[in-house]
Amino acid sequence: MLWLIAEDRFYYQNLTSLKSEYELEDIIVFPNNDDIRNNIQKSNIAFIAPYYPPKNIRSIFVIQILANKYGVLTSQEFKLKVSESKALENRLGLSVIHSPFSLKDIGGAESLKQYTKELLQAEAKGFRAKAIFLVGVPGTGKTFFPKCFAGETKRLLIQLNLTLIMEADEPIARLNAVFEYLSQRHTLNPSERYVILIDEIEKMIGNAEAIEKRLLGRLLTILNDMNTEAAEYKFDAIFFATANNLNSILDNNPELLRRGRFDELFFINLPDSKMAKGVFEIYLNKFQIADEVYSQMNLESILTEIEQYYSKANNAPDRFPYTSAEIETFCKKLHFYKIAYGYVTKEHILESIKLIIPIIKSAEEGVNRMMAQSELFLGV
Ligand SMILES: Nc1ncnc2c1ncn2[C@@H]1O[C@H](COP(=O)(O)OP(=O)(O)O)[C@@H](O)[C@H]1O
Ligand SMILES: [Mg+2]
Repeated sequence: MLWLIAEDRFYYQNLTSLKSEYELEDIIVFPNNDDIRNNIQKSNIAFIAPYYPPKNIRSIFVIQILANKYGVLTSQEFKLKVSESKALENRLGLSVIHSPFSLKDIGGAESLKQYTKELLQAEAKGFRAKAIFLVGVPGTGKTFFPKCFAGETKRLLIQLNLTLIMEADEPIARLNAVFEYLSQRHTLNPSERYVILIDEIEKMIGNAEAIEKRLLGRLLTILNDMNTEAAEYKFDAIFFATANNLNSILDNNPELLRRGRFDELFFINLPDSKMAKGVFEIYLNKFQIADEVYSQMNLESILTEIEQYYSKANNAPDRFPYTSAEIETFCKKLHFYKIAYGYVTKEHILESIKLIIPIIKSAEEGVNRMMAQSELFLGV
């Protein structure tokens, strides 16, 4: 029994010619389970859809993929003048971003900034880094840092959509297609350099399933061979992988974190007071409310107020209770008051402290477990 896979609308508009080409009596479009069940015994019919048949009965079909009418483009994309690279990016689930951020947008995180400087110096002398791993509590800047790094180093940020890869009929083929695409792209634009972001990698390898093991194996091969003669893909890239929850990876796929895989591993903790201050300054200035806010309360007093208000929830005495993302949200809230009222009062500031409940309070247990990873992490 034949199952045709077609993304191009052309085929659905020309079913008659498809029927005669394949000598079929009928072609059933977008079949659901009932359609399949009701027609499976008939001869001379086929199914057509942009998706594969259900996994449990896939082996009874002969699957044929119908090529798009305009190379990579479907007729609908061609008509809408979608560029080939955009179409491919959509299909592969890639975001290709010219990052507007740089290291200046990051408050604190001195060791990351220092490392970046050293890396750039080493790169200028021919060194090639492969990959950096970032782990830590949500909102501490794990996704943000690679964006700033990409902007700072004038590399394109390529963000993989892991959910799309995992949901693909053939996740490994999908992953390969992504690297294939980057290789081709690099051939066309040899001066382009990439930051490849694999964000929240536990989505891909947080379980012990066979497919996850195979995906990890594939990824590790690519990483190991990068910048060597054996490399399948020739593009100039540095990988960033991030994770919130290291435990699921260590339990199921510890080989990811074997020594030597990554050039550097960073645990990003909650900020200390000094870093918190830096992040506050960045966002109060960005929202242009610094003078207004300081006329009501100086920054030290605001920091102390927040520390005291959440001291019970905070199990790490040398850490500030808000993550950088929460500090940003706090400043956004004050900015909102400024727009709504035309001014910011001390009451607005105190009210915002109560309203913005840090993750260390709202998800205390989970966060404590994540913070404990910092110890695990040094052992990796
Ligand atoms: N060190 C930092 N300095 C300035 N802003 C930050 C910092 N860390 C995080 N942010 C802000 O918080 C937002 C959320 O951070 P994100 O990187 O998504 O956290 P994570 O990926 O760790 O959950 C970022 O988009 C950025 O605006
Ligand atoms: Mg993130």
